[in-house]
Amino acid sequence: MSISFTWLGHSAFTMEIDGHKILLDPFLTGNPLAAITPDQVDAELILLSHAHGDHVGDTIAIARRTGAKVVANAEIANWAQKQGVKSHPQNSGGGWDHGFVHVKQTIAFHSSSFPDGTYGGQPNGFVLTSKNRQRIYFAGDTALFSDMQLIGEAGVDIAFLPIGDNFTMGPDDALQAVKLIRPKYVVPMHYNTFELITVDVAGWANRINNETGAQPIILDPGGSYHL
Ligand code: NI
Ligand code: MN
Repeated sequence: MSISFTWLGHSAFTMEIDGHKILLDPFLTGNPLAAITPDQVDAELILLSHAHGDHVGDTIAIARRTGAKVVANAEIANWAQKQGVKSHPQNSGGGWDHGFVHVKQTIAFHSSSFPDGTYGGQPNGFVLTSKNRQRIYFAGDTALFSDMQLIGEAGVDIAFLPIGDNFTMGPDDALQAVKLIRPKYVVPMHYNTFELITVDVAGWANRINNETGAQPIILDPGGSYHL
């Protein structure tokens, strides 16, 4: 078994689970931190947390080129399918075994309209469980909510949490989230892309080290971590 991931900037990650490639919220075009261009990405699954432009990003172009399957809420999956892309609809609380990984959608407290203003369903996070029961929680864009404790009770190895404030949890609430989830590792996301979400990530990482049992993993755009 193995899990590795690369931060592409903002909330975009590539992840490799047991040799299979997953792409999360691939906002690359127009992302000032984007580590690579959309034509450099490979994926079997593309997971979308919600319909906002800074998450859907280059999904359609990448899915068309790679044949990747889009996994998202029913409204987003339907939208993707209409553009000739394979998709799998899920919704909050629902899980599905996608072969090499089980994907469960969690709630997220945010909004989810497409860039043209049409309804994008409910925003979500994801819990990914590998064949050997390693578990990843990708929170998406969300406020802090106490049910994160329930997500953590199942045992979370790595939590990906937004820390950028203004649109999502800020550093203080993300620290509280780590205390509720109790992951082994925590990866911050959705920060420093734009002026509105600029935060002191090093200061936050110090607090995670001092005040929680989790190990923060701070990546530069393009940086990878192997578990
Ligand atoms: Ni959003
Ligand atoms: Mn966002």
